[in-house]
Amino acid sequence: MKPIKPNNIVWHRATVTRAAREKLNGHRSVILWFTGLSGAGKSTLAHAVEENLHKMGCRTFTFDGDNVRHGLCSDLGFSDEDRVENIRRAGELAKLYLDAGVIALTAFISPFRSDRARVRSLVPYGEFLEIYCRCPLEVCEQRDVKGLYKRARAGEIKEFTGISSPYEEPEGAELVVDTGSQSVEESVAMVIDLLCEYGVIGPDKADNRLQLNWSALAGATA
Ligand code: ADX
Repeated sequence: MKPIKPNNIVWHRATVTRAAREKLNGHRSVILWFTGLSGAGKSTLAHAVEENLHKMGCRTFTFDGDNVRHGLCSDLGFSDEDRVENIRRAGELAKLYLDAGVIALTAFISPFRSDRARVRSLVPYGEFLEIYCRCPLEVCEQRDVKGLYKRARAGEIKEFTGISSPYEEPEGAELVVDTGSQSVEESVAMVIDLLCEYGVIGPDKADNRLQLNWSALAGATA
């Protein structure tokens, strides 16, 4: 994809700033970038984290690879070149949400290290948190929730990640979650801890989480 240089375009500064939005929201914004094979559980984890954050009173939005490919990226396929463009658009989108004061969660395979690094470089340090949903190919293939691995093995789907297209494991992810063996609850707790560690959500929200856990526990034993 040819880089397009913006000509005769001047950046318009918003009067409602990101800082003002964050203050209103009571938490900082951040990009939570979930990466991993198809079927590793990226979307499941991202949506579960989002649900928890929402209950804590945080502003969130989850961008799911499959969903974004229905609209904004419906013109793209799965060649290396198209995947690069897919992740470029997803990254720019997430960056806009960062400015909107939102905790932006993304669930894209994003198989190439260089693409993830490019998105990381778009935002200041500590505002792009890469979460590797690590799950062995055999487990993803066994799960085969969408039946795509079977079709890829049969040669019906070309350039399928893990089968006929590469996946480059993260080397410096902020968090590695073993989605092949850990429970969703355990993984969610790890992500929320990460957000506390990076100061995205403060003790007030974290206390809220304790209350949530407590009421869930009380509900379970009632
Ligand atoms: S990415 O590689 O460009 O990051 P993305 O996350 O948007 O991929 O889309 C992946 C989803 O598309 C998978 O979860 C799967 O459901 C579907 N899919 C269809 N064809 C392929 C393919 N060739 N490789 C990987 N995923 C595919």
